[in-house]
Amino acid sequence: MNASYSYFPVLVAYDSRVSSSCYATTTSRTFHHRSLVSLSLSFSKFQNPNFLTGNTIFLKMQRFCSVSGISKNKAMVERLQHFGVITSSKVAEVMETVDRGLFVPSGSAPYDDSPVAIGYNATISAPHMHATCLQLLEENLQPGMHALDIGSGTGYLTACFALMVGPQGRAVGVEHIPELVSLAKENIQKSAAATLLKDGSLSVHVGDGREGWPEFAPYDAIHVGAAAPEIPQPLIDQLKPGGRMVIPVGNIFQDLKVVDKNSDGSISVRTETSVRYVPLTSRDAQLRGY
Ligand SMILES: C[S@@+](CC[C@H](N)C(=O)[O-])C[C@H]1O[C@@H](n2cnc3c(N)ncnc32)[C@H](O)[C@@H]1O
Repeated sequence: MNASYSYFPVLVAYDSRVSSSCYATTTSRTFHHRSLVSLSLSFSKFQNPNFLTGNTIFLKMQRFCSVSGISKNKAMVERLQHFGVITSSKVAEVMETVDRGLFVPSGSAPYDDSPVAIGYNATISAPHMHATCLQLLEENLQPGMHALDIGSGTGYLTACFALMVGPQGRAVGVEHIPELVSLAKENIQKSAAATLLKDGSLSVHVGDGREGWPEFAPYDAIHVGAAAPEIPQPLIDQLKPGGRMVIPVGNIFQDLKVVDKNSDGSISVRTETSVRYVPLTSRDAQLRGY
């Protein structure tokens, strides 16, 4: 972890922009950032068009941490490596292979380290959050394994999962907005994961992600791309012993939780960092604007 990358946000908490964050890994940093979150929200939420559309909350550091001017996907990945966000060569490889530019609406800046609105009160998550979640799940995304991506949105992470588990594995996206499921399939068809969609080892489905997707359970890896008030029991049930789930939990204050199912079926939960995601909710609530 590059220290300056990690601590810049502490100095610049009063931006009007709720943006993607730099990366916090320790409990003490998390605690510190929470203070920032409450301060920053009160200053920013009414003037910020991106409020609740991002998925992390350390404010203002966007100016310092974004990769503006970097227009190539590879350069985006190298930047994340440079700042210590990506430490895994496998994650770097898959993020280089799946061009984020194919998943972000035209007219946006696909390679900035920022979430981007994709309609329906949803976003594609910021690159550093994608990288973080891929790294947390890497051991559970080995060839032949099963991965579930809840709130699959643009399909970007589902495509990354599919490439990591390969044609002998299975990557399943579940998204409750039908238009986003269609969009995800179109995006994936243009990407390096297109053949996996065609051969059926990658699939994207319309559904309420709180119920998981029992058809291909149990899963070695479950990623949830929206914040749940609590960890949904069906997702725990669909996790394989030895499996791992990464899920943001909370309302105003959210923690990225890492949930490991032990071989005896018991569950271990730890907090990775503080984050800001859109809610895991009903379709109606989301379309009403929560
Ligand atoms: C922050 S976006 C992340 C999207 C995706 N990970 C990406 O980066 O493109 C969260 C997604 O969760 C979806 N979502 C929210 N609640 C859901 C639910 N109950 N079931 C399925 N999807 C849900 C939203 O529609 C949105 O697409």
